[in-house]
Amino acid sequence: MKKDLIIALDGPAGAGKSSASRLLAERLGYRYVDTGALYRAVGLLVWEQGLDPEDATALGPVCEALDVRFEPGSGGQRLFVGQRDVTERIRRPEVSQMASRVSAQPLVRARLLTVQRELGCGGGVVVEGRDIGTVVFPEADLKVYLDASAEERSRRRHQEFRHTGRPTSLALTRRAMQERDERDTGRSHAPLRPAADAVILDTTDLSLAEVVDALATYVENCASGDAKRKKHGARLLQPDGEGGMERREAGSFPGGTHAHGTQHRTRTNPGSKRADRH
Ligand code: DC
Repeated sequence: MKKDLIIALDGPAGAGKSSASRLLAERLGYRYVDTGALYRAVGLLVWEQGLDPEDATALGPVCEALDVRFEPGSGGQRLFVGQRDVTERIRRPEVSQMASRVSAQPLVRARLLTVQRELGCGGGVVVEGRDIGTVVFPEADLKVYLDASAEERSRRRHQEFRHTGRPTSLALTRRAMQERDERDTGRSHAPLRPAADAVILDTTDLSLAEVVDALATYVENCASGDAKRKKHGARLLQPDGEGGMERREAGSFPGGTHAHGTQHRTRTNPGSKRADRH
């Protein structure tokens, strides 16, 4: 298989991007770039310095001085800001909100665009974020937009919080996620949306393993030439003009009957027995 593909994975919080991207990268022997962590690093700095995330003048020096990098370490990749390991700190709920707010600022996006392109340079990489297929790597070999019902995404995020010792209520998690969704999709610069040539994968009713298998199949098809067809218009899925997606071509989803229910935007089974699968 071609070893230097750029794989763009976008989607809202809780759609399963991080776990799936990490596992896919491992399976392919690719690098993994979590671009949300970079926005979180900026959010953390702004929060620690008590700055107004909507004040572009105040954000200027933070962006200019930004020194951020990933290093291998315990539990996978670690994120450093200067000499400081901020891997755990950037996951705090207040930093999530701050990251979402600073990410609406063109200055921050421009600074991180350079960082992200450097990290993806040369290919052989799975890059995960919100605007990877639309802005950061519009020429990516494969673009996938992972989605899931709001209910399922909140449930997953709530579970993550519980596992990391930051208990909060499901209702609060859901509200915070909704706020972030609105900001991430509503901002004028690089809003969260699927690229026109992205494959849409609804993970609501899928286990993590199923999602990774599906992605691996897309990659195989992409590497063996389907990507060219996709780029020339024979996309797996295309917008139906009403905000949903219409299935255009059966194609490649593994698992037989699953394929039909999951590639549509229709969500049928929120909060089912799959509670611990993501
Ligand atoms: O993926 P995440 O939850 O760690 O991302 C944190 C915030 O960063 C998210 O609310 C939106 C922003 N973000 C972005 O605007 N563009 C990206 N490519 C990645 C994240």
